Amino acid sequence: ADEGMWLPLFVKRLNQADMQKKGLKLTAEEIYSVNSSSLKDAVVQLGGFCTGEFVSSQGLMLTNHHCGYDALQTHSTPQNNILQNGFFAATRAEEKTNPGLFVDILVRMEDITSKVLEGVTPTTPEQERVAIVQQHQKEMADAAKESGRYVAYVRDMFGGNEYYLFVYQRFGDVRLVGAPPEAVGKFGGDTDNWMWPRHTGDFSMFRVYADKDNKPTATPQADNVPYVPKKHLPVSLQGVSEGDFAMVFGFPGRTQRFLPAAGLQMTLDQSNPARIKLRDTRLKLWKEDMEQDPALRLKYASKYASIANYWKYYIGQNEGMKRLKTVDAKKAEEASLDQWIRADQGRVQQYGEALTTINQAYTGLREYNLSANYVNEAAFGTEIVTLASRMMPLYMTLKTTPTDKAAIQKAVEGLKEPVTEYFKDYSSSTDKKVFTALMALYGKDVPQAQLPDVFQTVQKEYGGSWAKYADYVFTNSFLTSEAKVNAFLANPTLAKLEADPGFKTFNSVYLNYTQNILPKMQTLQAGLTRANRLYVAALRAKNTQKVYSPDANSTLRLSYGTVRPYKGRDAVRYDYKTTAQGILEKEDPTNEEFVVPKKELELLKQKDYGRFADKDGNLPVAFITDNDITGGNSGSPVINGRGELIGLAFDGNWEAMTGDLAYDPELKRCINADIRYVLWCIEKLGGARHIVDEMTIVNNGPNPG
Ligand code: ARG
Repeated sequence: ADEGMWLPLFVKRLNQADMQKKGLKLTAEEIYSVNSSSLKDAVVQLGGFCTGEFVSSQGLMLTNHHCGYDALQTHSTPQNNILQNGFFAATRAEEKTNPGLFVDILVRMEDITSKVLEGVTPTTPEQERVAIVQQHQKEMADAAKESGRYVAYVRDMFGGNEYYLFVYQRFGDVRLVGAPPEAVGKFGGDTDNWMWPRHTGDFSMFRVYADKDNKPTATPQADNVPYVPKKHLPVSLQGVSEGDFAMVFGFPGRTQRFLPAAGLQMTLDQSNPARIKLRDTRLKLWKEDMEQDPALRLKYASKYASIANYWKYYIGQNEGMKRLKTVDAKKAEEASLDQWIRADQGRVQQYGEALTTINQAYTGLREYNLSANYVNEAAFGTEIVTLASRMMPLYMTLKTTPTDKAAIQKAVEGLKEPVTEYFKDYSSSTDKKVFTALMALYGKDVPQAQLPDVFQTVQKEYGGSWAKYADYVFTNSFLTSEAKVNAFLANPTLAKLEADPGFKTFNSVYLNYTQNILPKMQTLQAGLTRANRLYVAALRAKNTQKVYSPDANSTLRLSYGTVRPYKGRDAVRYDYKTTAQGILEKEDPTNEEFVVPKKELELLKQKDYGRFADKDGNLPVAFITDNDITGGNSGSPVINGRGELIGLAFDGNWEAMTGDLAYDPELKRCINADIRYVLWCIEKLGGARHIVDEMTIVNNGPNPG
């Protein structure tokens, strides 16, 4: 299909003829409507980072395994390891609460551009524009909240050329219902991650709870009952064929398809190499320790998975940018835009400054960008520095209002839960190794003049050895153990905090960043904001025949396309679906990423597929479509032309890792778990037929398309 993560609000503006030709049978109203129930009511944002969908009238929700991973880890112990073994609640009472986890259900979205820009003209000075826009956004969001009834915020689109209001109900009682064993839900591990062909049962299940009036509660409540959604998706057992219509509804996180060539170049040769190198180091050290100790393996499982996920993403993105010459393509596009602008005085006046300003700003940014990357990925790549940063509100309170006992107590209270959470998954000896290695790289790779003071201390007092300095920090800092942190919190003083070597290290990095690096970058970025806005406006004005979709920004989008194979590279063609046969082919009991649980092996060897077999008698596992998605779409429903669930989107493919920066219709695919494999894992492998029976299973003949 075409590029595009579209705002469902505008589904009527999409090419209806094209959608119908591809197989869509639903009306625009059935897809998005504020007044009657529509597809949008079945799709939720999970925890701000993933997507889920309702599959029963009792609030039962499907999402990916990697979206539920943290919750699964939290409920696991070495003795009762549900992450490893899988788990399906036999009764509602067995469903597990997850304080802090929430889902947002969209009430409505609205184009409020003209209201936000009221009083703004093309000549309004930038600072004034920012103030007006911020004020209007706040007013509109505040009004939409209706005194706390809703969560509401404004997001800009097209680099600040348009503004939209989003109004949600937020449900703070989301309980874990089930998941397959990790060996199924993460089958293939990091080796298969971001790759096709895939054999992963990447799903988990939750249930959203509400009060007796079906209203959201902020936290889990014992007397809550299952939420009754306005709409839940029927589930189709029909299965997919090449060319079938497919629609993906969800909350894509971030794309940067309007990033100028200079920005791409900076990502390619500065940011990504730094991230890859630092994550590579961190992951290796974590893994060494995880392999030594099962308890530690469990503690670090979730952090490891999320750091590894984007480590591989950056590698793939850089490989792809080189192979596809993404920067050159963008340069060519900019050259032609520049020509178009120069051909007309009016255009010169309106957009003339954009490209020059952009290129100058990036030249400036390149001088500081590495520092910013190393603050994020080296200093904050260590856990002790991250914990120290959490002390900032308390630190500021102790410093500015040292006699205000109530304020200090409030800051302490705010730390209690995060500190408990933090130490649940912490090993100071592991962190010490990471600290030693990452900070040494920071000192080596970042321009000397931009290093924080602590590097001089290490040079002068520790002979330049981060190992020696780490000995000192991890022996003397109270930030290395929960008991010591709690002792400090029981009687916090400014002197104690300021003297703590862990906090001192953080503070040195922080002060250097906020005083010497950030202000310079912010000045450059302020200029960029305006230039980017003009650049995007110029592009759209030039290419009037092209309908642009706004970059992803964690708001509800739909993408439509078809089930479709692809050509990966010269002489390599990929089929559009995988089957259980591939699980047996990949199976390797000596490699933890490819272990197949005993029960699954037995069932697959007996070909015990039940009603989930495809028409050739195989068990379908995954399939690909050409829907345009990105991170945050994880868990999104893949819906056929009749609005029935056929799969769960869970990944993208290696050949199109540059997709967040530039879209290539021939290469980019969306990787989905076939819903029949999901149901097989619940019913046959998990023995939880009661969960499948809660769903509305339909059999309406082949998918349209
Ligand atoms: N690449 C997937 C995404 O970002 C996450 C897959 C998780 N699986 C894994 N093996 N780490 O959506």
